[in-house]
Amino acid sequence: MIRHFLSLSDAGGDGVAAMLGDAIDRKSARRGQPKGRPDADAPLAGHVLAMVFEKASTRTRVSFDVAMRQLGGSAVVLDSGTTQLGRGETIADTARVLSRMADAIMLRTDDHAKIEELAHHATVPVINGLTDLSHPCQIMADLQTVIEHGKALPGLEVAWLGDGNNVLNSIVEAAGLMKFNVRIAVPQGYESDAGFIARAVADGARITLERDAAAAAAGADVIVTDTWISMGQAHAEAKLAAMAPYQVDAALMAHAKPDALFLHCLPAHRGEEVTDAVIDGPRSVVWDEAENRIHAQKAVLRWVLGQI
Ligand code: CP
Ligand code: NVA
Repeated sequence: MIRHFLSLSDAGGDGVAAMLGDAIDRKSARRGQPKGRPDADAPLAGHVLAMVFEKASTRTRVSFDVAMRQLGGSAVVLDSGTTQLGRGETIADTARVLSRMADAIMLRTDDHAKIEELAHHATVPVINGLTDLSHPCQIMADLQTVIEHGKALPGLEVAWLGDGNNVLNSIVEAAGLMKFNVRIAVPQGYESDAGFIARAVADGARITLERDAAAAAAGADVIVTDTWISMGQAHAEAKLAAMAPYQVDAALMAHAKPDALFLHCLPAHRGEEVTDAVIDGPRSVVWDEAENRIHAQKAVLRWVLGQI
C-alpha cells in the first residue's frame, strides 16, 4: 500500500503527531550545522524526489530540496512550462514515468483532481505541495511552529482572518485531527470549503464562522492570515474591498491573548492582509514557520517512505 500525502487525513492524527515529534527532534539534533549537510543517519540516502511545479514557489521548492539534502538524498525540479506535461503529456503517463525515475513525487498544481489522478497512476508516494483545495505541508510547519513556541494543540484557539482559501482548509482539517478550535472570520461570499468544516466538526473540533474580525480574534492563542488573492485568482478590486476589515493590524492583535502568535504561510502582501508592525512585530513567528517547512517536510518524506 503506497502512502500518499495528499491531505493531513492521509496520515491521521497519530501520523501527524508522530511526524511533528520527528520534525522537532531532527531540527534540534542538527542545530548549527550548514544547511545542506546530511543528517548523521542520512535516512533517505540514495533517494530522489521529483518536484513538479505548475504554479510559482519559493519556500516549497527550496525547502523540499534542502530537506532531501539533509536526509541524504536529492531532488529534481520540473516546471510545467519546460516539461512535456506542459505540452500535453497526460498526468497518468507522467506519473508512470516519474515513478520509474524517482522514489517520491511532489506536485504543486491548481485543480486538486490532478494530484488525485497523479497519485492514482503513480507507483511511488505523491505529496501535495499545494492545490487550490489544500496545502497540508504548510500546516505541518505551522503546527510545528506553534508547538515549538510552547503551545499545546488540544484546545488551542486559532483565529483565521481574511480569505477562505486552501491554507484555511488544511488548518480546519488539522483542527479535527489534533483537537483544536478555529474561529473563521471571512467576508460573505468568501467562506472556505464546507466539507472540511463538516469533517472537523464531526471529529470534535469547534469551528465557528464570524463576520466580525475583532470577535474572532478575542482571546485567541494564534492569529493566522494569508494573501487575499491566491495564485490563479483574478486580482479583483471588489474582493480587496471586502477583505479590508479583516486586515491583521496592531489593533486586531490587541484583541488576542497577550502571548498570541502571528502566523502567515508567506508570501505576505504587506499593507493588505497584514501590516508591517504585526509581521515584523514581537508576536510574529513567520520566519520560524518558513524554516520549519524544511523540518516538517523531512518528516513527511520519511512518513510516505515508511520510516515513521
Ligand atoms: N508558503 C508557501 O507555500 O510558499 P511558496 O509559495 O513560496 O512555496
Ligand atoms: N493561498 C495561497 C498560498 C500560497 C503559499 C495561494 O494559493 O496562492
